[in-house]
Amino acid sequence: MQTSANPKTYRVKSFGCQMNVYDGDRMAELLNEQGIVPAPEGEDADLVVLNTCHIREKAAEKVYSDIGRLKREDGSSPLIAVAGCVAQAEGEEIMARAPAVKMVVGPQAYHRLPEMVRAASAGQRVTDTDMPAETKFDALPRRKRSGPTAFLTVQEGCDKFCTYCVVPYTRGAEVSRPYAALVDEALRLVEAGAREITLLGQNVNAWTGENARGQTVGLEGLARELAAIPELARIRYTTSHPNDMTQALIEAHGEIGKLMPFLHLPVQAGNDRVLKAMNRSHTVESYLAILDSVRAVRPDIALSGDFIVGFPGETDAEFEDTLKLVDAVGYAQCFSFKYSPRPGTPAATMDGQVPAAVMDERLQRLQAALNRDQYAFNTASVGKVCDVLVERKGKHPGQWLGKSPWLQSVHFTGDAQVGQLVRVEITSAGPNSLGAVPLDALVS
Ligand code: 5AD
Ligand code: SF4
Repeated sequence: MQTSANPKTYRVKSFGCQMNVYDGDRMAELLNEQGIVPAPEGEDADLVVLNTCHIREKAAEKVYSDIGRLKREDGSSPLIAVAGCVAQAEGEEIMARAPAVKMVVGPQAYHRLPEMVRAASAGQRVTDTDMPAETKFDALPRRKRSGPTAFLTVQEGCDKFCTYCVVPYTRGAEVSRPYAALVDEALRLVEAGAREITLLGQNVNAWTGENARGQTVGLEGLARELAAIPELARIRYTTSHPNDMTQALIEAHGEIGKLMPFLHLPVQAGNDRVLKAMNRSHTVESYLAILDSVRAVRPDIALSGDFIVGFPGETDAEFEDTLKLVDAVGYAQCFSFKYSPRPGTPAATMDGQVPAAVMDERLQRLQAALNRDQYAFNTASVGKVCDVLVERKGKHPGQWLGKSPWLQSVHFTGDAQVGQLVRVEITSAGPNSLGAVPLDALVS
């Protein structure tokens, strides 16, 4: 089997969460610095990075089938690097099972990718799943390009150890990036064209840092600083944990105009016994109390969450409690999953694993309720006047696509450009998007 000696082109394929998308972008920037360029659409790349996700089922199998698909007709393969959480969790096994893979690089070590590519080009196979004390962020190049919406990882890792979740094992302990480095990266992104920045972290609202006056602040302090960047129009953050939802951050939703009225706050289940078995360390009541206080300062806030159905031992009645919680909240959108046993997590060996057919039925009922609420939220938007941040052209002539403040997809026809904020009136609603008409000249 041959591999290309010195790769000239690359492709990064990211799976899973937005943090992987961010990491994938940063790996691409690293490769660009090395003079390796993105492979043109439809053409084979000399180097392929599979940036993997391990959060739910069949992650590893998917990686192996992706590797198989990369094989060319003449039997050769590109230089393949497996990155992300599957690399972290199953790196050795991947190396043993897939000879085509030349590099395995964990989420905390990808700043070393250029050296690894050099070694792999010289015929070595290299693994780096260290969680080094030096931060990869210091070793990454400055941000030079950005679309209108950009991600900025501010926090990584998780100390919460929910009993179903692999993240504390694959991404390590909670670490906050320093305030000054984040402000700097945000400024670069805005210079490069970003109008909206989404602050990312596995527990983004656990972020803390020291501002220029030496005060320790939470995420609201960072949001306030970024809100002062004139060309930056919107700030979002995700994903949050209920226990880190401080009063200061809640109040910020009523104070910082650029902080968008959207909160993704996973609850996972609507029953206290299940929440305890999940080690969530919040109750249904404490979760609802947080939503009440956010709604008190920002009545139009759109709420989002994550749910798991079929956690080991979940009874029919306990699942009904999840449906009751959904009814009580009225989510604008949500993600919902069947429980998937992850090797090495406490829940994987718990008694009472729920049969697949029961999980299927629960997921269907939950998703029907969530879809109903999402459609109701969208329908209630009709008649509202709001700004749309234009992200790209639509399919039809003169059509543009963007997002409302509440993270709904909006399409309209008129004069606009990517990156502009256009004031519109929402005129129609579908399950997944809204139609609008532009009102006056653009806002900014
Ligand atoms: N099974 C199913 N869903 C899971 N999630 C995390 N771990 C698992 C698992 N083992 C879901 C949670 C989390 C989201 C990112 O993925 O809902 O909030
Ligand atoms: Fe996983 Fe729980 Fe940490 Fe979220 S808070 S990353 S679900 S362990």
